[in-house]
Amino acid sequence: MTPDKTMTAAVYHRFGGPEEVHLEQRSIPSPKSGEVLVRVHASTVSIADHRSRARDVPPGLGLLAAAGIGVLRPKHPILGMDAAGVVEAVGPGVTAFTAGDRVIAAMGGAFGGHAEYVCMPAEGAITHAPASMTLEEAVTLVFGGITAQGFFRQVSIGPGTSVLVNGASGAVGTAAVQLAKQLGADVTAVTSGGNASLVLSLGADRIIDYTRQDFTAGDETYDVIVDGVGNAGFGRVERSIAPGGALLLVIADLWSMLRSRGQTRRSGKLVTWNVGKPGADELAHVVALADSGRYRPVIDRSFALADIVEAHRYVDTGRKRGNVVLRIADVDPLS
Ligand SMILES: NC(=O)c1ccc[n+]([C@@H]2O[C@H](COP(=O)([O-])OP(=O)(O)OC[C@H]3O[C@@H](n4cnc5c(N)ncnc54)[C@H](OP(=O)(O)O)[C@@H]3O)[C@@H](O)[C@H]2O)c1
Repeated sequence: MTPDKTMTAAVYHRFGGPEEVHLEQRSIPSPKSGEVLVRVHASTVSIADHRSRARDVPPGLGLLAAAGIGVLRPKHPILGMDAAGVVEAVGPGVTAFTAGDRVIAAMGGAFGGHAEYVCMPAEGAITHAPASMTLEEAVTLVFGGITAQGFFRQVSIGPGTSVLVNGASGAVGTAAVQLAKQLGADVTAVTSGGNASLVLSLGADRIIDYTRQDFTAGDETYDVIVDGVGNAGFGRVERSIAPGGALLLVIADLWSMLRSRGQTRRSGKLVTWNVGKPGADELAHVVALADSGRYRPVIDRSFALADIVEAHRYVDTGRKRGNVVLRIADVDPLS
């Protein structure tokens, strides 16, 4: 087992601004049956951490979100939906991982990545990290990769499929652009001019600068539209979806969620806000692409755990490009 009984974690006890997060000593969790204890090398500070910390959720979703993030106080005081690290110990019954394995993991709504150790089910969204990347790079595969994969597996994307990614410079957008390209799609990326070169470098075939042009204004249609911004609801983009195409609402308000089934039935175009239950297979797919040089990490900034408040402040701007990495402990055998 672990030599120390306590660990440093970034913790928040009240909803609010970045300054609600501070470092605390917490007990190191012990892996129960079927669980893996990971010594965390890196995590990311994501928009989901911002949303949970600030209770900043799309209109109408306050009550639903409260079930996940807490009502009066945070349900998960340690944020961080993802982690890259080294397996420290495994609980009874775990055979897929052993101490010393380099892994990446998505804890999702269970959070816990902003700490020196995290436990998670071995059968959850955890897989071996790409051998070709440091753990700081590898952790960037998780949040956007698993989300984009979760949505993409609900549609058919192949050579020649036209995919439009709205919000192409975010964590999800940079993953969606890369994964769609790998499937052979023709990718149009909606982003601001300042992020055009980044998104083109990830393989996008063309850019629409949303500060100058409304992608729904012309006659162009797309087989798949990915909305990673929350401003491309079905009412706005229906005309821009090709017959039989799909709208993947990575972010949606309650009203859009409630209407999606009816819109699908009426239009013959799939409208979905449900990411499904992407897990280890989806992560492993991104890892395989990374190891063959076909998926690259997109790191905007990297902060030490001690600078967690600054990291939250930066993510709160809504302007991050790809991922904001949180460096937690130097445990990567590769670094
Ligand atoms: N359903 C799920 O399971 C799931 C999972 C993950 C995330 N999400 C949601 O998906 C959304 C995207 O997540 P993320 O991690 O990609 O966010 P993010 O990384 O914080 O996105 C930031 C990026 O959005 C771009 N952006 C802002 N306004 C834009 C606009 N009007 N048009 C195009 N781009 C714009 C910004 O670029 P500029 O500075 O150039 O504007 C910035 O690069 C979030 O709302 C998140 O809550 C949902």
